[in-house]
Amino acid sequence: MELLRTPEAMRAWADGRRAGGVRIGLVPTMGYLHEGHASLVRIAAARGCGKVVASIFVNPAQFGPGEDYEKYPRDEARDLATLRAAGTSAVYLPGVADMYPDGYQTYVEVGDVSQGLCGAARPGHFRGVATVVAKLFLAAKPHVAVFGEKDYQQLAVIRALARDLDFGIEIVGAPIVREEDGLAMSSRNAYLKGDDRIAARCLSRGLFRAKALFDGGERDAGKLVAAARKEIKAEPRAALNYAEGRDPVTLAPLSGEVAAVTILVAARVGPARLIDNVTLGT
Ligand code: PAF
Repeated sequence: MELLRTPEAMRAWADGRRAGGVRIGLVPTMGYLHEGHASLVRIAAARGCGKVVASIFVNPAQFGPGEDYEKYPRDEARDLATLRAAGTSAVYLPGVADMYPDGYQTYVEVGDVSQGLCGAARPGHFRGVATVVAKLFLAAKPHVAVFGEKDYQQLAVIRALARDLDFGIEIVGAPIVREEDGLAMSSRNAYLKGDDRIAARCLSRGLFRAKALFDGGERDAGKLVAAARKEIKAEPRAALNYAEGRDPVTLAPLSGEVAAVTILVAARVGPARLIDNVTLGT
């Protein structure tokens, strides 16, 4: 497994693989990897990528003032072991000064899908995500890039980015991987201790409740969302940020009778801001 620490090294690696006719898969991450990330590497390989490169970069541009950039968990040695075990060919680990050198001034803004939900709660977040992902695409030159569906709005933003800027990269969404008790895997789960870890189950519990209603025939988006919201609000350690029903593709707000809906939730539990979602009817 090769370690590449600069955009120049990443580009040279990608050019070499492309010259050899190899299909490149990219798995962008911020490190502190879990089984969900390992599944992304395997999914890229299963999509016919002869080489899979994972990036590890905690991107300061996507954290707002007062957010957890400084304390975001980091463990490079463990991450490299996880990636090696998952069959990763190369790891791109640029430094902040490599990505944003003095004088850096170019940012990418994606329109409607960046608005609302986490875009409203975290101003500038998706501008930072779109910018760094564009830079990762340009350095790693992948044919395929795989992102987890847990960050559902992020995935929609990246699909728009890849399409609108003609990257010619296939964007693949990968199913959420959950802990045994239903909690969606996330690097930020490391912040959850004791009662907060137990309380965090309320997000997935709410979504599973909505799914059970949908499976039982309920099609009213408002009622499905209300069921998820109720579970989260009933948990005293959780502060609900949002619970919304959106179109699974466009993320446009939905109400009334629906054939398909994605329910997205965000809540703070102790020190952690958690998100989760479920898509019903597709
Ligand atoms: O989902 C993440 O870990 C990050 O937002 C990403 C896509 C790697 C961009 O920094």
